[in-house]
Amino acid sequence: MKKTYVWSLPTRIFHWLLVLFILGAFLVSDEDELLGIHSAFGYGVGVLVIFRIVWGFIGPKYSRFKDFNLNIQEVKEFMTNIFNPPKKYIGHNPAASFVMLSIIIVLFFVVLSGALAYGAEEGRGVFAFLYDASKESEIFEELHEALTTLLFILIGIHLAGVFTDFLLHKEDQTLKSIITGYKNIEGESVKLNFFQKVVAFVFLTLSVITVIYTISSNPISQHEEKPGYEKMLHEEEDDD
Ligand code: HEM
Ligand code: HEM
Repeated sequence: MKKTYVWSLPTRIFHWLLVLFILGAFLVSDEDELLGIHSAFGYGVGVLVIFRIVWGFIGPKYSRFKDFNLNIQEVKEFMTNIFNPPKKYIGHNPAASFVMLSIIIVLFFVVLSGALAYGAEEGRGVFAFLYDASKESEIFEELHEALTTLLFILIGIHLAGVFTDFLLHKEDQTLKSIITGYKNIEGESVKLNFFQKVVAFVFLTLSVITVIYTISSNPISQHEEKPGYEKMLHEEEDDD
């Protein structure tokens, strides 16, 4: 059977950097002292998400959003014939198309809510200017945690889908394709032009630099007080 080159190198690097950064953000999310590192991985995810959105418009064929099968009828057909699909999908199958798009959208809001919580509620990061020491709100933090839960559910569905495909459609080699780039399905292989290579290089490098730079400028804090905290204490003393 003919092999088709489906996932270009930038798409695969994007995928594995995304997994690495999400895992990094998750593993340090419980410790207040590691919030600087958590935000570093989170901002890295932010750069990757922006890259994937741009890639969805300027990227190679199967990575473009217009190649996603966003048709509920096709999802139904695909799911009801899961053991013997009447049609082969070279890019994302209809169910995967919905899950992938949802992951990208939810990730965007996970990062945004995290950055807003970090800025408006912790007085740190890119939205630090929103911080007001006299306000004790946790709305962005709660939103961030709810969105993170939704993200983890979608990742669970994604992994279940990959595993099901591995068991039922072994011959397509979809699981291997996110490492090698090739699927065992007949079709048109992708080839990147110079412009696509430059855009991918800039974004992927930027995502790694963002994580390294943010970690190095955010040494593990010895449970720092929030900005404005000392000023509030003095004001309270003055009141007494
Ligand atoms: C993919 C990206 C991200 C993931 C998966 C993620 C995951 C999480 C999780 C699981 C928690 C909950 C921890 C708990 O239950 O106590 C959390 C809390 C938090 N995250 Fe994120 N996060 C991400 C991005 C970000 C970003 C970009 C920022 C800031 C720039 C951020 C800032 C925060 C803050 C301030 C909290 C609250 C910490 C606390 O409880 O004091 N997160 N995040
Ligand atoms: C944090 C965990 C993960 C996230 C957020 C994630 C997210 C994604 C996204 C957004 C895509 C679409 C790629 C694109 O169109 O550019 C994708 C594809 C893919 N992922 Fe993951 N992934 C995760 C973990 C994994 C793991 C652990 C595996 C393998 C064991 C895996 C296997 C695949 C495969 C095989 C594809 C291609 C699916 C297809 O051809 O339709 N993913 N993933």
